[in-house]
Amino acid sequence: MDTEINTVNDSCNSSTSSDWRTYPFATEPIPKLSISDPEINRYIAETRPVIITDSKLVEPALKWNLDFLHENLGSSTFNVLVSKNEKFMYYDTRKVQRTKGFHSDVKFEEMKFDDFVKRLHRASDIEGDNVYLQQALNDTVGKKIVDDFVKFNWSWVTDQQKRHGWGPLTSNLLLIAPPGSITPAHYDEQENFFAQVGGQKRILLFSPDQFGKMYPYPVDHPHDRQSQVNFDDPDYERFPKFKEVKALEGFINPGEVLYIPMYWWHHIESNPNGKETTSVTFWYKTGTLPKQIPYPLSSQQKVSIMRNIEKMLSECLRNPEEIGPLLHMMTDGRYYNTHNIMPPV
Ligand code: OGA
Ligand code: FE
Repeated sequence: MDTEINTVNDSCNSSTSSDWRTYPFATEPIPKLSISDPEINRYIAETRPVIITDSKLVEPALKWNLDFLHENLGSSTFNVLVSKNEKFMYYDTRKVQRTKGFHSDVKFEEMKFDDFVKRLHRASDIEGDNVYLQQALNDTVGKKIVDDFVKFNWSWVTDQQKRHGWGPLTSNLLLIAPPGSITPAHYDEQENFFAQVGGQKRILLFSPDQFGKMYPYPVDHPHDRQSQVNFDDPDYERFPKFKEVKALEGFINPGEVLYIPMYWWHHIESNPNGKETTSVTFWYKTGTLPKQIPYPLSSQQKVSIMRNIEKMLSECLRNPEEIGPLLHMMTDGRYYNTHNIMPPV
């Protein structure tokens, strides 16, 4: 019974796989389209995820294996997440001090590329030493990488940015992950073209209208924007609505690009049967908000408003424990059946 709903989409990928984890929610495939398909514009305009198979966005990077990167990335240091297990849940170090009893199995370390590679290969032998490189591409990289970077399909991606009224490109993050590693579900506050360079990743996406079912940590918490639910063993007593979540699922291979719209939750796994995976992100600021907010509010607008209210409260109230009860007192039994209150004209 319970396995029925967890259908793996294997119509458009090469994955065989029983070794991928199974989760207790229903999934539908993320659409995969060719760059020539005009439907892509509609998906992006409607802020719906889509995988583009042949954009050639990072074509020159498809040869970036570990040896090539080792030779050409330069001698500077790289940001690496070091985890005691296969999960790499990000946290904001600036928020750690304010949070009583915060503990994480993940540490941030700076290391040279060759140290990273050694630890990547050794990881399976040493328990509790999994490494995931997450470094913004910057001007310390060597000439060959710069040459490839310049030859990315900037005309396509910049055309998308203009067409959809996005703000500037903020960064290109280089991600190199060990097989079987997991980036747990979170949302980002930027638009993202996520380009796969090497190996295969599986991506689970949840729309922003499922905010109430994903149970994000409070904004002040170091795990802000991350779900509190452990997908491997959901605590339904604390998170009952997680039972109702529905995901989009896709497998992304080298050369393919996934559009992850702002505020969409994403959970990303590297193929447990493969080698390391390499990806490059293209993060763009959102466009300027329309002068007139359209009603009904979109789920993206709601998330943005909720974040602002939470931030305001946490700035005013020194003790974060006051926030939840205050919000309850303000709304419980009050803001229901308010259809008799007319909006101001
Ligand atoms: C992202 C992201 C994590 C990963 O691109 O926003 O969360 O493991 N990536 O690829
Ligand atoms: Fe992300």
